[in-house]
Amino acid sequence: MSTYLSLENIGITFPTDKGPLTVLEDVNLKIAKGEFISLIGHSGCGKSTVLNIVAGLLQATTGGVVLENSEVNQPGPDRAVVFQNHSLLPWLTVYDNVRLAVDQVFGKTKSKQERHDWTLHNLELVHMGHALDRRPSEISGGMKQRVGIARALAMEPKVLLMDEPFGALDSLTRTHMQDSLMEIQAELNNTVIMITHDVDEAVLLSDRIVMMSNGPNATVGEILHIELERPRNRLELADDPTYNHYRAEVLRFLHERHAQPDVPSGKPKAKPQEPTPAPVSVAQETPVIEKPTQGHRLTLAVG
Ligand SMILES: Nc1ncnc2c1ncn2[C@@H]1O[C@H](COP(=O)(O)OP(=O)(O)OP(=O)(O)O)[C@@H](O)[C@H]1O
Ligand SMILES: [Mg+2]
Repeated sequence: MSTYLSLENIGITFPTDKGPLTVLEDVNLKIAKGEFISLIGHSGCGKSTVLNIVAGLLQATTGGVVLENSEVNQPGPDRAVVFQNHSLLPWLTVYDNVRLAVDQVFGKTKSKQERHDWTLHNLELVHMGHALDRRPSEISGGMKQRVGIARALAMEPKVLLMDEPFGALDSLTRTHMQDSLMEIQAELNNTVIMITHDVDEAVLLSDRIVMMSNGPNATVGEILHIELERPRNRLELADDPTYNHYRAEVLRFLHERHAQPDVPSGKPKAKPQEPTPAPVSVAQETPVIEKPTQGHRLTLAVG
């Protein structure tokens, strides 16, 4: 695999009232062009912090990020971010929110008409062509999220960084957006890092699922390779033993190997939020899990 985006020995320590807090330590990840990576881990482990470092919004204390052989240490249009809470400019219409980004990136390379068409094209991709003149306060949370995604895609970024992009959507809109994202990514071959808490979403969309250990000093715990053929169909996969095996692997990581941080002794441990999956019978393929060791990555086959 040739590396396109590389997270190298990333660590970050924040000053706090109780002294320095090391949130991330030795985070290493090599990503190929066009790969779809999901980042999964318990709340507060440091997922958004990783994404913000890749976006150039936060500076790592140790290590760094390399994109196409250049070090990244500030934000740039080559890395578009879809934030956890949509971040549209409230005084601009839906159209103008996207058009502003298009003008910033393509002001010198596309004509006015091309920029207009490109803005419309991206809003239509996320089915927002009918609400061009509305302001963010006049549309729903799901619609705002879709405009945020259109804005990010319209910048044709090298890397698309998404922080729980569908977390606030109702399940119907969410499945629709997941399917659209798979289509868009198949067409444009974007390199994506997406944070999610949704195990099914992670398995359905990803080439690899990066599972983070609990913080402080959080790092890459394990990496699960999702070797399901594309295009993927959620209905067909529902009964697929390999799909269910991957799903169970992620749940096991989250609820057994890296269960929620310890509760005080004497009290029972918190129960998993997700229902425990039915035991998986024989998987047709053997998932590959990478276990990072110090400085090296060991590839294990898990039966
Ligand atoms: N600027 C900061 N100063 C101090 N601590 C911070 C700062 N930013 C983040 N943290 C701490 O870093 C840890 C990781 O935060 P982060 O937002 O990355 O978690 P997360 O995995 O994205 O959680 P969630 O799933 O809830 O969104 C938390 O303990 C948080 O309090
Ligand atoms: Mg977060």
